[in-house]
Amino acid sequence: MTDRTIGYIVGSISSTSINRRLAKALERLAPEGTTLVEIPIKDLPFYSPDYDADYPQVARDFKQALADVDGVIIVTPEYSRSIPGVLKNALDWAARPWGQGSFNGKPTAVIGTSGGGIATAAAQQHLKAILSHFNAPTLGQPEGYVQSTPGLFTEDGEVTSEQTAEFLSAYLEAFLALVGRYALAREAVAA
Ligand SMILES: Cc1cc2nc3c(=O)[nH]c(=O)nc-3n(C[C@H](O)[C@H](O)[C@H](O)COP(=O)(O)O)c2cc1C
Repeated sequence: MTDRTIGYIVGSISSTSINRRLAKALERLAPEGTTLVEIPIKDLPFYSPDYDADYPQVARDFKQALADVDGVIIVTPEYSRSIPGVLKNALDWAARPWGQGSFNGKPTAVIGTSGGGIATAAAQQHLKAILSHFNAPTLGQPEGYVQSTPGLFTEDGEVTSEQTAEFLSAYLEAFLALVGRYALAREAVAA
């Protein structure tokens, strides 16, 4: 299997984030040849078009990190039935400058966890609408709705439920298949 590097963004900056634990779980479950690396967002200032002519280094680094990976997984909580502001801010940096959208053609998957029964489904629908606008090919199935229970993930990402671990492995496999299909398509266009 071809080696892949997948970036992940955590849509929470909470020091006790359960979504960060979920991201760590994905990192641990990645199959051989696949490396998951975090693309951090917490130091990005609020985006303004005033920056378009001269992006600050932290935003350049963020866009370069997105450019360097084969695909992106966004792991996010749901805030007020949508995505957290910190994540929307990062996506706005990714969208600009005009014509240089970082998600254009970038295979992307979304997943999230909360204690609630719908497990971030509303936030993920908003996020998929944004990614569609960005022209990012997005994983449709399986959907990443993970309901958290206390202790489901340890701090360093161990999954204490075999069923959840199996689901997350299958989710990663499906996303890597999507990443592979787009890599093949890019090679065919370049040939
Ligand atoms: C401002 C705010 C809004 C929230 N809104 C929702 C919501 O709409 N739906 C939901 O399931 N949980 C909601 N929650 C609860 C979060 O799912 C819960 O705090 C979760 O632990 C956040 O993820 P994190 O631990 O990764 O930061 C909200 C929490 C906060 C702080």
